[in-house]
Amino acid sequence: MASPDCPRRCSSRTPALLLLSAIICFQQLVKGLSLSTEEEDAVKRFQEYLKFDTVHPSPDYYPVTEFLSEQGKQLGLDTKVVEYVQGKPVVVFTWQGTEPSLPSILLNSHTDVVPVEHAYWKHPPFAAKMDEGGNIYARGSQDMKCVGMQYLEAIRNLMSAGFKPQRSIHVSFVPDEEIAGGDGAKLFYESSDFKELNVAFVLDEGVASQDGNYKVFYAERSVWWFYITAAGHPAHGSRLLDGMALEHLRFSLNAIADFRKSEFDKVKSGEKAEGEIISINNVYLKAGTPSPTGFVMNIQPSHAEAGFDMRVPPVADVDALQKRLDEEWAPASKNLTYRFVQKDKVTDNFGKPAITAVDDSNPWWIMFKEAIAKAGGTLAKPEILMGSTDARYAREQGIPALGFSPMTNTPILLHEHNEFLNAKEYLMGIKVYEQILRTCTGPKDESGEPSNSKAGSGVLSETIHTEL
Ligand SMILES: *[C@@H]1O[C@H](CO)[C@@H](O)[C@H](O)[C@H]1NC(C)=O
Ligand SMILES: [Zn+2]
Repeated sequence: MASPDCPRRCSSRTPALLLLSAIICFQQLVKGLSLSTEEEDAVKRFQEYLKFDTVHPSPDYYPVTEFLSEQGKQLGLDTKVVEYVQGKPVVVFTWQGTEPSLPSILLNSHTDVVPVEHAYWKHPPFAAKMDEGGNIYARGSQDMKCVGMQYLEAIRNLMSAGFKPQRSIHVSFVPDEEIAGGDGAKLFYESSDFKELNVAFVLDEGVASQDGNYKVFYAERSVWWFYITAAGHPAHGSRLLDGMALEHLRFSLNAIADFRKSEFDKVKSGEKAEGEIISINNVYLKAGTPSPTGFVMNIQPSHAEAGFDMRVPPVADVDALQKRLDEEWAPASKNLTYRFVQKDKVTDNFGKPAITAVDDSNPWWIMFKEAIAKAGGTLAKPEILMGSTDARYAREQGIPALGFSPMTNTPILLHEHNEFLNAKEYLMGIKVYEQILRTCTGPKDESGEPSNSKAGSGVLSETIHTEL
């Protein structure tokens, strides 16, 4: 609340005093976040969660698991902790629905966070300090401890309001998302534990939105990491010859640069969103003959290598892309070979593009959209996420999954220095999840049980089809 004596104090005489009192007034105004006791408690629990140092490369997951289990116990949720890999616990809470035989929904989040460079942070990254404006600084405040706690807070509020979900709600906290989830979400989604949950719809993380519209993601780009190796004659540095390794590699780099430009141009012209195009970046170059002081200057090396990070949206023509790699980027005729370090499929386990339909064919999408509107929010045009998250493991199973982190008017700071989230925005997100849970698990509407179907996955909407 704003301080009533502010105007009087602000009329102080000297400039220095004026400045000082202006600062005091400002602090009093912004400090007045006017939170209810319940809201203050919710913010405190969020801060408590943020203080667990679950940072890579060696996160200790046990203390945070204990904290989460305690939260689940307070809420009276069924709790299951499973270690598919030792030291990497998955925590699953269940709020039993009144009709537990109905397909359920799963709210997933990851407990790990990416490393920090302490020197660049204005507040320690695991202190969860809230400044006068209500900004809470911590690694994980956006990615994605906010979401994990918001799920639980929404359940807490719905319970106090006497709401009873018809279908069961499961909340999972998984490790290792930031290192691709191989020992976390992947094993969980492939487990019999997961099958028993009978999940028909999954929510996982998205990205903050810089304007007033929530971002939502219906697919992700797949990782294709590879390197190209060029071979040629080794020769004296003074000789002009054909068939040199570095000349071959440069041929490859030029072809890839042309492709990169054509894809990038589609984004620059506004024709495509960044998630809809194929991105490719040269991430390393390896060539030359080392010497004690650097490189030998008069030898043309016999080998040269370049590494690439390529991201492929599920709407891409992967056969054409593969052909491009074989024939244009690494043709054998130019003494070029390639090898994949990682090549993720763009289809689900049933051979369909790993896409969650965001049209009327998907009852979950209809309910999700309705819930956002009921919460007073607006949605931006659904997007394909540029990077990858654990949601891909759900889509692989043909289960519709949306990437959604309810943050508007917030700078995108995931993986950056001074990651923060405003307390007000955090609290608003809880309200959004309350609506989502009411709408997606609530009583059936007159039209029957459209929401029971598992339909809606893999339906390709015309507007997002990409030609290579
Ligand atoms: C390919 O590299 C080998 C050496 O590994 C060389 O003998 C050959 O001439 C090269 N061919 C071309 C087309 O550059
Ligand atoms: Zn994340």
